[in-house]
Amino acid sequence: MLQNKVSEIKEKSTDEIKTSQSERELYAIQVKYLGRKGKLTAILKGLKDLPADKRREIGPIANEARNAIKHLIAERKKELSEQIDWEKERIDVTLPGKRQEIGHLHPITLVQRDIEQIFTSMGFEIADGPEIETEWYNFDALNVPPDHPARDMQDTFWLKSEKEKLVLRTHTSPVQIRHMQKNKPPIRIIVPGRVFRNEATDANHEHTFYQFEGLMVDDDISAANFRSVMKIFFENFFEQKVELRLRPSYFPFTEPSFEIDMNCLVCGEKGCSACKQSGWLEIAGAGMVNQKIFAAAGYLKNRYQGFAFGGSIDRLTMMKYKINDIRLFHSGDLRFIKQF
Ligand code: FA5
Repeated sequence: MLQNKVSEIKEKSTDEIKTSQSERELYAIQVKYLGRKGKLTAILKGLKDLPADKRREIGPIANEARNAIKHLIAERKKELSEQIDWEKERIDVTLPGKRQEIGHLHPITLVQRDIEQIFTSMGFEIADGPEIETEWYNFDALNVPPDHPARDMQDTFWLKSEKEKLVLRTHTSPVQIRHMQKNKPPIRIIVPGRVFRNEATDANHEHTFYQFEGLMVDDDISAANFRSVMKIFFENFFEQKVELRLRPSYFPFTEPSFEIDMNCLVCGEKGCSACKQSGWLEIAGAGMVNQKIFAAAGYLKNRYQGFAFGGSIDRLTMMKYKINDIRLFHSGDLRFIKQF
């Protein structure tokens, strides 16, 4: 009986070894018959429990079978290794490796970080506010009257909402109110962030762009402080001489108000698409904070004074890197973005 079992194992394993196609397969066969729980191993382990005469009879047969299987496996292994096409398997270690593409920061992010660095070095803190804003913070609190064109559907993205009317904020100025409601002067903040306008786009207008708001409030902050902060900012940001032009303007939240233009660095004032052939580009709106704004934020009227400004990060980026179309920033064109 046991004898038959050994012969059967030998026959089957021989078949399997001869038809095996890989070293992996061979190893599995070895485990199946000769492993710790292998079929032949079980018989060999059981020998000690057999009567002496049976042990003498089966022992040599089982051992011979084990040696034969081992031998066959070794031979087949050799055969298989000779079949490998070494030329195909060869690895050319001198071939150049595959370069991993490493991402990098978007130019607008680079410029935002520059702005933050310059203003924090002057003692400004960085504040933040929501991109979805209430009508009150975006307009009313800033003294923007109900019939102001900015409130028009044409200029603002209004959201469907049940209670309060909500908008995608059209500027970073609502954060002035949010910050003053929670903090008392002295205040020195900048607020970089994304804003949205329902706008027909062109080379220097986007529907989604980035502004940085500035606000400085204390007992006697004056227009002279504003000039000096702007001068330090522009000198540090451009590391070259730039011409600034202050134009009288109107914003409901500042009094007096002005607009800041700079000479176009893309064309060197010759006229190009970035500056609409004028040689100048409007960079920011600014002014002395209207006392109505302090009142809306919960301060006593005429107790403090300060200045505020709202500049375009996109347009500063255009000037810094000499980019002649604002629409390139979000175009998804890798040829553009890979240059930074
Ligand atoms: C404002 O948004 C005011 N909140 C700025 C301000 C803040 C004034 C604090 C006074 C005190 P204005 O709409 O002009 O103002 O926008 C500010 C700047 O954003 C502009 O000077 C211009 O540089 C830039 N800008 C405006 N519209 C666009 C646009 N569609 N695409 C790119 N940049 C724009």
